Amino acid sequence: MWWEIPNHLEVKNGELHIANAPAAETARHFGTPLYVYNEKRIADVYRRFSETIEKYAQKKVRIHYAMKANSNEGILRLLRREGAWIDAVSPEEARKALEAGFPKDKILFTGTSVSNNDMKQLVELGIRINVDSLSQVRRLRNIAPAGTELSLRMDPGITGASGHWKTMTAGRESHGLPIKFSIPESGVITAAQLARDYGFRVVGLHEHIGSNWRTDEEVNEFLQTVDVVLEKAKQLTAMGCELEFVSFGGGPGVRYMENHPEFPLERYAEETCRKVAASGIECEALCFEPGRYLVADSGLLLMEVVDVKERYGDVIAGVNSGFNHLIRPVLYDAHHEIINCTKAGEKADTVVTVAGNLCETGDVFAAKRVMPKPEEGDILAVHNAGAYGFSMASHYNLRSLPQEVLL
Ligand SMILES: Cc1ncc(COP(=O)(O)O)c(C=O)c1O
Repeated sequence: MWWEIPNHLEVKNGELHIANAPAAETARHFGTPLYVYNEKRIADVYRRFSETIEKYAQKKVRIHYAMKANSNEGILRLLRREGAWIDAVSPEEARKALEAGFPKDKILFTGTSVSNNDMKQLVELGIRINVDSLSQVRRLRNIAPAGTELSLRMDPGITGASGHWKTMTAGRESHGLPIKFSIPESGVITAAQLARDYGFRVVGLHEHIGSNWRTDEEVNEFLQTVDVVLEKAKQLTAMGCELEFVSFGGGPGVRYMENHPEFPLERYAEETCRKVAASGIECEALCFEPGRYLVADSGLLLMEVVDVKERYGDVIAGVNSGFNHLIRPVLYDAHHEIINCTKAGEKADTVVTVAGNLCETGDVFAAKRVMPKPEEGDILAVHNAGAYGFSMASHYNLRSLPQEVLL
């Protein structure tokens, strides 16, 4: 199948295997619903990502794992050992990263609608804040001492790139919805002056334009924003800011469907680094903040078919999970492949709707998908569930959270 990856995700003797173990057996051993992640796959992807950028960069490279994608403690510890830094979005995430052993100076907080209480906690923890608004700079004056180092999250002023309009984070609006993130390009110098007036040190400039982009056109859009960020970095240096880093955020996407292209990592790395070198900007490090790219394809959500029914000719396979465990299909109309673990080699000959156990019409993992006919007791695997899966899970309908296991 198109999603098979040697020694990670494979069909052997008609059965789905993850990390060389039969997925259905893993499900029965630990119980379902279950998130299964393959540690080795995460390490492999991390190394490929960081080494590709390092190959082209003439400066230090920092890979800040966007832990909002998956804050499983084992994954955090693994990425810490691999040398990652952290992108945290809440004081709670920052605390969890500290507990997983990340030193405080390897964590950058980038939040939105950030309260004074959030900032107080971060300052107490000694975490650097990447400021999202002028208001935040003003309020920080009464919270952080003079000399505090901060960075500025800027909007490049051109439309961002993303796989879905709800994950676009740059530009004025997305689908008519005003975008809430970052300081507009025209306000960055004012923010830096204000920060300086308060005695703060602006040490970083940051952008994050959207999530899950993978086409060449989307990478081109990103590269246009790189030019704007580099130009702004030069202006900040000219006004006396000693920049330690420039961050290009996250966003590299993964293939959820066969016709999705592979993210052009080589080109992304090479062209970004070439632009940095050509700009001549002065800073020590380049930062990247991948979340999805590092963990999405490492994970499966395993769930059991508990009820098969036919309604007006439709086959509905009811499972012991729901959008409280994986919200992407409902929130973003996202497509995830669904694999029947013990029938992975069988002919796909039945049109099936895979439905969750929540009291919501929209609680459906896949509508009218052609797959081998499921039976009660079968284990279904949701592909690419390693990112924005468990980390977005809830107790809706008072259902328990799924288990997680790192193989
Ligand atoms: C500031 C910031 N950096 C990085 C990311 C990670 O994005 P992705 O998982 O698409 O790489 C996000 C995601 O929302 C973000 O808000």
